[in-house]
Amino acid sequence: MNYLKRSVLALSLLAAGSVFAAEPVGVSIDTSKPGPVINKDIYGQFAEHLGSGIYGGLWVGPNSKIPNTKGWRNDVVGALKAMHVPLVRWPGGCFADEYHWKDGIGARDKRPVKVNTNWGGVEESNAVGTHEFFDLVEMLGADAYVNGNLGTGSVQEMSEWIEYLTSDSKSTLANLRRKNGRDKPFKVAYFAIGNEAWGCGGNMTPEHYASLYRNVETFLRAPAPYRPRMIASGGNDNDTSWSDVLSKQLKRQTDGISFHYYTIPTGKWEVKGAATGFAEQEWISTLANTLRMDEHMKRNSAAMDQHDPEKKLGLFVDEWGTWYDVEKGTNAGFLFQQNTLRDALVAALNFNIFHAHADRVRMTNIAQMVNVLQAMIITDKDKMLLTPTYHAFEMYVPFQNATFLPLTLSNNRQYALDGASIPEISATAARASDGKVYLALVNTNPRQAADVAITVPGQTVKAVRGRVLTAAAMDAHNTFAAPQAVKPAPFSATAVDGKVSVQIPAKAVVVVAVE
Ligand code: AHR
Repeated sequence: MNYLKRSVLALSLLAAGSVFAAEPVGVSIDTSKPGPVINKDIYGQFAEHLGSGIYGGLWVGPNSKIPNTKGWRNDVVGALKAMHVPLVRWPGGCFADEYHWKDGIGARDKRPVKVNTNWGGVEESNAVGTHEFFDLVEMLGADAYVNGNLGTGSVQEMSEWIEYLTSDSKSTLANLRRKNGRDKPFKVAYFAIGNEAWGCGGNMTPEHYASLYRNVETFLRAPAPYRPRMIASGGNDNDTSWSDVLSKQLKRQTDGISFHYYTIPTGKWEVKGAATGFAEQEWISTLANTLRMDEHMKRNSAAMDQHDPEKKLGLFVDEWGTWYDVEKGTNAGFLFQQNTLRDALVAALNFNIFHAHADRVRMTNIAQMVNVLQAMIITDKDKMLLTPTYHAFEMYVPFQNATFLPLTLSNNRQYALDGASIPEISATAARASDGKVYLALVNTNPRQAADVAITVPGQTVKAVRGRVLTAAAMDAHNTFAAPQAVKPAPFSATAVDGKVSVQIPAKAVVVVAVE
């Protein structure tokens, strides 16, 4: 059709009050060039001694009326198991650099009560310590990521914790572990030396931290079968100097460098923006800010590539997620925030970015698992609800340990508002362990559905089957009165003339198997 005819048709459609059917976005999945494995640990969680992230949210103690196993809530553990949590980071965060592990072993009623100086100044009973944490991860079938205390601890204290955790000998510390109920060493998948050394972990420079790290790591002598992957605490936000300095100076003594980036709607820590009741400007700014993670991954990987071109070191994003203004009427030190459909899109957009960097990004931890920041689960006494973020994690389970498949997006439009502009569709694909190809699609536009045509060159796609997560409002969320307000629904389409076309609703996450 020539230009003139197209214009005449367009004008007559407009006159008839019709809406233009825009060209569909094309998604072409290339199964002939499989990429790296998407490490399941990209879907890791973070549980800090912070607010009711652990006490109340996860741990109620064995004598609680709330049904529990060894003190851990059965309802919460059951829900976490259903979302296949692969890894849990503990005990912090900022808390880790003031945590003394010996306070958390032995009879619980004899453990010292401390003050949680980072988070609300509340009493820390030390009821949850090393053995309790491992009970939790073992119940979840997850791996453990333990964060050591570089801030207020000593080399000796950290080295003794490693011995207590990992020694199979008859040493006094290994025998103390046995006396406390654990015969065989614990399996520690990752161990970090400090946290946010540029800030709450000691206000250091990367050079100073690198020297301290080298010294401490020398004395963390775990026996080979139990040796954790060692993590150097890295930078945050736009600062790539930590990735640069640490990958240069520590490459023989570390397995990876951490990185933190939080999504703040306004981009300003002083006034971050609300978790609910926000305008569309804060919808788009939140998603635009979260998409900056891609730039962060590129820049930090490039910094590491200079010293580690073979990519032996991992870039571990061990804190990420949304951070909003504290909810009115809650303790500002507890970092409790509501969790909406917007958070589910934030999670999905980050997954898509992490998949695209799976050659370097092999582990991440969303902050945090229960009741804190971008949580999976919110509890109130004996009640529990699943957040939209939980559903995004659960929908993406097939991507854990799947093989990344490149895809090409064509005709993707920009969703724009008041000078901000982001791609409308974000997509990722992988071949999972069940042999199937999975595709995840995010429509960032809160007002308009998007037509998408899915093809796999060399294969006749017959259908796509999976689920969609969406809702009527941008800030739709689950409450104890309506805990199922936001939840996934079935989503499928079959091929017509050898092509599968789907309509992705406005503000939605879709995950499908491509058959
Ligand atoms: O996740 C909350 C806090 O944010 C962590 O304790 C700290 O590492 C970061 O600043």
